[in-house]
Amino acid sequence: MKYKNLFNILKVLPLFLLIISCEGEEGSNGPIIIPVEKVQAAFNMSISSSDSNVLLLDNKTVGTGEFKSEWDFGQGGALVLDQPGIEEIRFDTDGTFSVRLIVTNDAGLTVDSKTVVVDNSSGGICPNGICASTNSAILKDAATTFFVGNITRASRVNGGGQHTEILKTHFSSITSEYEMKMDVMYPSEGNYDFTAADAIVNFGVDNGINVHGHALIWHNATPDWVKNFSGTNAEFETMVKDYITTTVTRYKGKIASWDVVNEAIDDGSGNPLRSSVFKDKMGDDYIKKCFQWARDADPDVLLFYNDYNMASSPGKRTAMFNIVDDLGDLVDGVGAQMHISYNGPSASNIQAVADGTVSRGLKLHFAELDIRANPNNDQTSLTAARADAQKVKFKEVVKIYNSIPLDNKYALTVWGLKDNESWLIDFWGHIDWPLMFNDDYSKKPAYDGFLEGLE
Ligand code: XIL
Repeated sequence: MKYKNLFNILKVLPLFLLIISCEGEEGSNGPIIIPVEKVQAAFNMSISSSDSNVLLLDNKTVGTGEFKSEWDFGQGGALVLDQPGIEEIRFDTDGTFSVRLIVTNDAGLTVDSKTVVVDNSSGGICPNGICASTNSAILKDAATTFFVGNITRASRVNGGGQHTEILKTHFSSITSEYEMKMDVMYPSEGNYDFTAADAIVNFGVDNGINVHGHALIWHNATPDWVKNFSGTNAEFETMVKDYITTTVTRYKGKIASWDVVNEAIDDGSGNPLRSSVFKDKMGDDYIKKCFQWARDADPDVLLFYNDYNMASSPGKRTAMFNIVDDLGDLVDGVGAQMHISYNGPSASNIQAVADGTVSRGLKLHFAELDIRANPNNDQTSLTAARADAQKVKFKEVVKIYNSIPLDNKYALTVWGLKDNESWLIDFWGHIDWPLMFNDDYSKKPAYDGFLEGLE
């Protein structure tokens, strides 16, 4: 680091001159000594994009005065003086290594150190110390008693590619992420648009993949013309009946289940029904009416009530069970959205959702599973510790689901394939890694967690 040191000497020169010029000044008792400050060692490290066994080390130490930077590459051997530019160091052997940068000046020594994990079977140096899973087990084959679901879009099933191949390989059930909701299927009065829904349903049928319909009625996907409906309440009800009948009839025999009503419960205290145009115009029994119309249109399709925070909020859970109790024979199952975090809700609260559903003799759909690793936005990259905690939670969820009686099983649907496609990033407005596949489609520890939950 010759140039860096020369530069630093030039930087301290004025200080040195200042000390000299202060000597002998009137009233002074000798030279003013400005103490040398320690320089804090710091470096960045990344994996070479052209060779995943090569680590790029970038000395980021800044400070005044003269200092010396030396590397301990963690593979034995003497310290190596830092050179200008980026150091490229090979790591060919499997193991965990500690790379250290040691910076010394007259004030002493500081060290920055980082851990490097190498696993050649998973591709070389593991990014952030997290090695991609090398487990070759197929999710849908490992889960022998229920469907393993994921979401998709018309563009994906039409476009094909790696995303769709992984979907077909590992998942035995699909849910449309947003194209089988009312705002897409019924964009304007009297005009249905099933283009995207048809593509998704046909993809499922053609590939022998179960199709779950999601979601006929959802306040968040209600088209404006419905929200601002200008007719009478009776006309509104006729319109909703027509929409449900038309849609359910269209996919009769092609799809196995529908979320008839999604997220009807309010989050506030007491958990009454959320206010919506459906509740306002059709009354509190709008849920029952919608289920009845769906049942009439296709007596064979399974009908689910779907909602969130079923595990984390005992109040909402009670409200949800009240709704399904009131629906009686009109409902076949409970869809518990599983948008959860690595640190909660607890296993016992998740178990309570399963127990309440099983005790009612209903089917359970663990729907919309994603497990946030960064719920408090305190991480800028997925750490090994969080990846591991997330894996443990995936395992816990799958284990709970896999342990319910066969008759109550239906599907466990994951809400997304790879991390950078998750809806949560937009929804919460910050980075997270809530799914089982990395952005490059490699398998995360969470994937192993899913499989371990089935053991
Ligand atoms: C989300 C989709 O992932 C997004 O692409 C879309 O923009 C909004 O809806 N609860 C649900 C899902 O029931 O339908 C939501 O999906 C996520 C929350």
